[in-house]
Amino acid sequence: MKLDIVLGLQWGDEGKGKIVDVLAPAYGMVARYHGGSNAGHTIVFEGKKMVLNTVPSGIFNQQTANIIGSGVVLDLLAFHKEVTGLQANGFTVAEWQNLSISRKAHLLLPTHRLIDKLSEESLGLQKIGSTQKGISLAYADKMLRRGLRAGDILLPDFEEKCKELLSAHTQQIKTHYQQDIDTDTLYAEIQEALKTVLLFPIIDTESGVNQYLCKGGKVLAEGAQGTLLDIDHGTYPYVTSSSTTAAGACSGLGIAPQKVGEVYGIFKAYTTRVGNGPFPTELTDETGTLLRTKGHEFGAVTKRPRRTGWLDIPYLKYAIILNGVTQLVLTKLDVLQGMEQIAVCTHYSETDGISLPPYTADVTPVYQVLKGWNEDLTGIRSKDELPAACLAYIAFLEAQLQLPVRYISVGPDREQMIVVP
Ligand code: GTP
Repeated sequence: MKLDIVLGLQWGDEGKGKIVDVLAPAYGMVARYHGGSNAGHTIVFEGKKMVLNTVPSGIFNQQTANIIGSGVVLDLLAFHKEVTGLQANGFTVAEWQNLSISRKAHLLLPTHRLIDKLSEESLGLQKIGSTQKGISLAYADKMLRRGLRAGDILLPDFEEKCKELLSAHTQQIKTHYQQDIDTDTLYAEIQEALKTVLLFPIIDTESGVNQYLCKGGKVLAEGAQGTLLDIDHGTYPYVTSSSTTAAGACSGLGIAPQKVGEVYGIFKAYTTRVGNGPFPTELTDETGTLLRTKGHEFGAVTKRPRRTGWLDIPYLKYAIILNGVTQLVLTKLDVLQGMEQIAVCTHYSETDGISLPPYTADVTPVYQVLKGWNEDLTGIRSKDELPAACLAYIAFLEAQLQLPVRYISVGPDREQMIVVP
């Protein structure tokens, strides 16, 4: 069997959490392959709204095994809080025994978070727009080869090694930001969080996933953020610190590329991005505000208002090529209801001399304007019941992107989904 991948084709927040939750029953395993608690995957079912950060979105299917892969950075304190929160909401995830952690996943310590916050604050207007969750700092320690991994928790010298790294961080904080932080207090918080972390098996998940695939099992890899935030291929430096693409799923789970099957590319019916960085189709007028209000475009993690704009075909084509997308999933189509006209950027102005996305932000989008619709889509479950203008919009996107849209999401709930036969 193959490893299928769900990933975002834009700057994140495309609704991947909902899609993974919808697809999960068809998979025996769901695996997060990169990022950390900077993801905010919102899942709505049975009148409840749950936001997952590090826990994979297959968790609400008790039959699905969930994996936190080696490409993830595990924030010990945030994970403790997330699991405790799920338990307070009646989801006794530890008892379901359906969540394992890769022993190679790097640990994110409270000092990573603190340095991230202090460094972002010191940048003033030059801010990257970091979620201030310490993600880049944890990956930096991984690259510097001084990071701690989940498997280290099980070793007798963990306390010593952890305090050593904490001390290195507190020294850095003292030197650069003139703040005194007590390492023992920090370690006490970590010890508390470890009680939760140790409820879950810390194992060689790479072998587990490969063996499961060999036995004919189906695995779904869950991406976070989006392709345009990829550390290598995104709008650098306004990116996240991990590999968000399909290639990242291979390295972040230890799976060979030829084992990849379907790649589900998730994109919203319009575009959003959080924080700074290029956004050629951004709308800073009342239409942009309308999209933000109607789409509830405020960060699930940071609550920051998201920037909004029209769809950008060159960027989407780029994301499709990079990931080898085989299935398109269009989300939040319901949000466009009531727009008199919908614009789509089909290319950038010839004078820019660029057809593919920019290395720099300096491009002028050229738009094609399509007719909007007034009908409410949220109760529709079959493609042929969609209004004509809406079908025309989808057909236009399919022609531009040269791929069919297989799933259409028309609301946040699990049930609000149109599967195209
Ligand atoms: P990141 O990995 O952090 O980028 O998150 P994500 O891609 O899972 O997206 P996120 O959950 O942050 O944002 C999507 C939001 O839109 C959530 O509040 C969802 O409940 C909601 N949502 C998902 N699909 C739809 C849809 O089709 N229509 C509407 N109106 N809301 C949707």
